[in-house]
Amino acid sequence: MTDTMIKKAVELLREGKLVAFPTETVYGLGADANNAVAVQTVFAVKNRPAEHPLIVHLGDAAQLSQWAAHVTLAVQKLAEAFWPGPLTMIVKKSATVLDVVTGGQDTVAIRVPAHPTAQRLLQAFGGGLVGPSANIFSRLSPTTAAAVVDELGEQVDMILDGGECEVGLESTIIDLSQDGNDQPVILRPGIITIADIENVLHTAVLKPDGHTRRSSVRAPGMHAVHYAPRTKVLLVEPEKLNKLVQEYSSNNKSFAVLARNDIKHNPYGPNNLYVTMPKGAREYGHLLYSTLRSVDHHGCECILVEMVPDEAPWSAIRDRLMKASAEQ
Ligand code: TXA
Ligand code: MG
Repeated sequence: MTDTMIKKAVELLREGKLVAFPTETVYGLGADANNAVAVQTVFAVKNRPAEHPLIVHLGDAAQLSQWAAHVTLAVQKLAEAFWPGPLTMIVKKSATVLDVVTGGQDTVAIRVPAHPTAQRLLQAFGGGLVGPSANIFSRLSPTTAAAVVDELGEQVDMILDGGECEVGLESTIIDLSQDGNDQPVILRPGIITIADIENVLHTAVLKPDGHTRRSSVRAPGMHAVHYAPRTKVLLVEPEKLNKLVQEYSSNNKSFAVLARNDIKHNPYGPNNLYVTMPKGAREYGHLLYSTLRSVDHHGCECILVEMVPDEAPWSAIRDRLMKASAEQ
C-alpha cells in the first residue's frame, strides 16, 4: 500500500466518495461519517434498510469523546484492552453524530480497527469513517479485495487491497450504552469472547437470548437471514453427516460438503464438492466466508456444513453458520 494510494483514498473520502478498505475482520465500505449524503450513498449501494445503523471507525480511542456523550470507565477499560482490534462498542452518542449514521437512535457504534491499512487510512483522514461490511445487505462479508469487487463492483470509487483479512468474521459488538445497573450485552459474537470481556470488566456480560432488554430490535446482524450465500446451507451434526451424504448421492443431488472430519465413504460424484475445513476455530473463522463464497460460485443445490463444537472459541462461527442456514 503506497502513500499515494492512501492520499488518493483520503481525497475521495473528503469529496464524499466511497472507499472500501481492509480491516482485520472483514472489508469495510468507508465513507465520511460526518457527510450525510456520503452515508446515504453507502446505504443505497449496499441496499441496506435505513434502520440498520453503521459502525463509526476511528484511528484511535482518543477521538471517542467527539462521538460518545460520555466515556464511561467500562468503555475506557475495554478500549485499553482491545483497541485497536475486533471489538465494537455501542455507547450513548454525542449531539453531533448524524442521525443517518445511527438510524435516529441515541447510541452509536464505535470501533478502532487494527489492520495497518485501516490505521493508515484513518490516521490520514483524521475523522470518523462509517464502515459497514462491503457487501450487499444480508450477504456474505468480503474478506478479500476480489470479494469486494464480487459484491459491489463499480459502485465503489476505490478499493484498498490489504490482502486476506486475518480474522475473517465481523467484530464482537457489545452494548455499553445502558444507564444505571444494567449489564453490558453482547449483540454480535466475534473472536473477542464474553469471557475475554468479563476478564477485563470483572462483571457479568449478557448474551442476547430473546429475554434481554432491547437487544433484538437494535442489532440488525441478528436478523434471521444474514451473512448468507445464495446456495441453501444445511447444518448437519457430525454423526449424521455420512448418512446424509450417502442419501443425497444416491438421489443424484449436486451438493457441497464443508467438514472438519473425514467422511468414511467417498461416494461423491463429479457434481459434488468436498472441502476439508480446519480443526481450529481461528483458522476455520479465517476461511469460512471465503470458502462459502467460492463454493457458492459452483451452483450446487445445497451446502452441507458439519456443525462445529458448542464451545466458546466457536461461538462467532456457530452464530454465522446459523444465520447462513436460516430459512429465506
Ligand atoms: O468487523 C466489523 O465490525 C466490520 C468491519 C468492516 O469493521 N463492520 C461491520 O459493519 O460488520 P456492519 O454494518 O456490517 O455491521 C454493523 C452491525 C450491524 O448489525 C448494526 O446494526 C450494528 O452493528 N449497529 C450499529 N450501530 C448500532 C447501534 N447504535 N446499536 C445497535 N447495533 C448497532
Ligand atoms: Mg455486515
